Amino acid sequence: MAMKQENTEQLLKRIHSYIENLPYMREPEGLYEPIEYVLGLGGKRLRPMLMLLAYNLYKEDVERIFPQAAGIETYHNFTLLHDDLMDKADMRRNKPTVHKKWNENTAILSGDAMLILAYQFMMKDCPVECMKDVMDVFGRTALEVCEGQQWDMEFETRSDVTVDEYIGMIRLKTSVLLAGALKIGAVLGGASEKDAQLLYEFGIRMGLAFQLQDDYLDVYGDPDVFGKKIGGDILCNKKTFMLITAFAHAGEADRKELQAWIDATDFVPEEKIAAVVSIYDKVGIADLCRQKINGYYEEGLRLLDEVSVASSLKENLREFVCALMDRKL
Ligand code: IPE
Ligand code: IPE
Ligand code: MG
Ligand code: MG
Ligand code: MG
Repeated sequence: MAMKQENTEQLLKRIHSYIENLPYMREPEGLYEPIEYVLGLGGKRLRPMLMLLAYNLYKEDVERIFPQAAGIETYHNFTLLHDDLMDKADMRRNKPTVHKKWNENTAILSGDAMLILAYQFMMKDCPVECMKDVMDVFGRTALEVCEGQQWDMEFETRSDVTVDEYIGMIRLKTSVLLAGALKIGAVLGGASEKDAQLLYEFGIRMGLAFQLQDDYLDVYGDPDVFGKKIGGDILCNKKTFMLITAFAHAGEADRKELQAWIDATDFVPEEKIAAVVSIYDKVGIADLCRQKINGYYEEGLRLLDEVSVASSLKENLREFVCALMDRKL
């Protein structure tokens, strides 16, 4: 009998509503309210969707893994609480970040609680035969994200970061979570080890493209749609592909100017952002970025082709990631 697959929009609605209706609230409210707040703000639910779509390549009863899907989303939102603190970001999903709405200690402790909740969800009703594999992938992934975040911070004060180092950093901070979500979905669906690994590698490529696009939107996005303030990466001296490439492509005078903005300690934020963006524009960063994104996207699709289920079954996943590639939010 042919595998029945859920319509992607329907699936997104179902996982949204499952996550929204999770009973987070209990005492002390000061700990759980921010959790309900951030998880209730929505977001794209990308990681749970990838998990469910991977599972749905092999099995129909997607609701069976809603707890694990909620677990990966809770983990992701935990990273956002701490990330916004580290990146001094005031806005997320068009709302004040937790450390702004409450305070820094709240972002730390509610974040910690979310990390623990994520582990609980991940184990909840997890079939025993999959438990070890699922927890292995999740644990390794969760730790790698911290490694990526540490590199990201350390790169802020370095001026010799290469594109390869940048790619290694975003692989850890972002890609492995998309890849891990897919792999956990595959494992729970009973995929072969080979398929689970192919889906993981597919996720890595999608994650690289996804973070490149995030960095692009941090410069060129529409803040009302993107939901975050524009220019935050420039102000933090984040060593993005764009900044590294601008240094490599700019003429002598522009390179000096870029360096002066990076070294500046006293400046008007808007002026720094405008000056850096004008150098980006001069070297045609947008196109270079787009090419790099497309390269990873195509590599990813080739890996997906190798996954040993009927091509028609992969259409949902293909369409879903395709929509991500030129997302505006
Ligand atoms: C934000 O992730 C953090 C990055 C890895 C760029 P998303 O863009 O998936 O954030 P939400 O969950 O949809 O808000
Ligand atoms: C995302 O990097 C990485 C993690 C949250 C782990 P960013 O710092 O670019 O994410 P945003 O732009 O704040 O969402
Ligand atoms: Mg960050
Ligand atoms: Mg950030
Ligand atoms: Mg960003």
